[in-house]
Amino acid sequence: METPNLELETLKQLLKQQEKLASLGLLSAGIAHEIQNPLNFVINFSKMSYKLLKDLYEVLEDNKDKIGEADREEIDDIVSDLRENMNKIVEHSERAINTIQGILLISRGKEGEFIPSDINVIVKEYVRLSYHAMRAKRKNFNISIHEDYQDNIPQIMIVPQDFSRAILNIMNNACYSVWVKSQIVKSESYTPTIDVSVKYDDKNIMVAIKDNGLGMTEEVKKHIYENFYTTKPVGEGTGLGMAITHDIIVNRLHGKIQIDSIEGEYACFTLIIPAKIK
Ligand SMILES: Nc1ncnc2c1ncn2[C@@H]1O[C@H](COP(=O)(O)OP(=O)(O)O)[C@@H](O)[C@H]1O
Ligand SMILES: [Mg+2]
Repeated sequence: METPNLELETLKQLLKQQEKLASLGLLSAGIAHEIQNPLNFVINFSKMSYKLLKDLYEVLEDNKDKIGEADREEIDDIVSDLRENMNKIVEHSERAINTIQGILLISRGKEGEFIPSDINVIVKEYVRLSYHAMRAKRKNFNISIHEDYQDNIPQIMIVPQDFSRAILNIMNNACYSVWVKSQIVKSESYTPTIDVSVKYDDKNIMVAIKDNGLGMTEEVKKHIYENFYTTKPVGEGTGLGMAITHDIIVNRLHGKIQIDSIEGEYACFTLIIPAKIK
């Protein structure tokens, strides 16, 4: 039995964690909001400039007999480049807006929409994304990724942005772990490897991500789902990844997460999601 004092201590800890989370949410919502406004300006002014280019072109058409052929060609080229630039500005700003809206959605804690989704497609995409993010950060570091997707997997009802976040969190941890191990081992005989598989057994969909990195101690396994629990140096980890992943898979999708790991050898995370087909 816990003594009242211990319970109070646990409660206090919990409160502190929730306060931290709430302020983190507020902060990111604030920043996202501040960036969204100027980005909207960028998009609107680019679209306006695009229209102005069209007007300019009409003036040109009206005066085409006054301009020499060589000049006209040059103007055409410039206008066409300007159009392309304008499109690029709009395209990339809109991408940034989407990212920001994603942040706003999460930090407001708004629930996303459940839609029929193809797990294979999401896993593939986010494995690739994590891999490229890792490659961008740690040049000259490579991982051998093996993927195995069963092909008769039914679509299931999930919130795609939640599920993809879970995959990204696990993949990022796996990439980090094999990277750290490669820095310690420093041997040709170590090949950083991540195995990804998606399987289906008529009841559940199982997504397994296994890395041959550092593995985990019993202590780490015990605390892994706690908010802000991290063994990484400052700047490398927030300790929120697995807490969020647990919330998504267990609380929202009513699934399970299995952890299998031997310290120094490997870590394998298996997401088991009931395939409620709609
Ligand atoms: N694939 C893995 N291999 C080894 N340790 C892991 C792995 N995934 C998670 N961990 C451990 O769990 C801790 C918590 O993970 P997470 O919640 O994602 O936070 P963070 O990555 O920010 O530290 C990590 O700091 C690490 O100690
Ligand atoms: Mg993490």
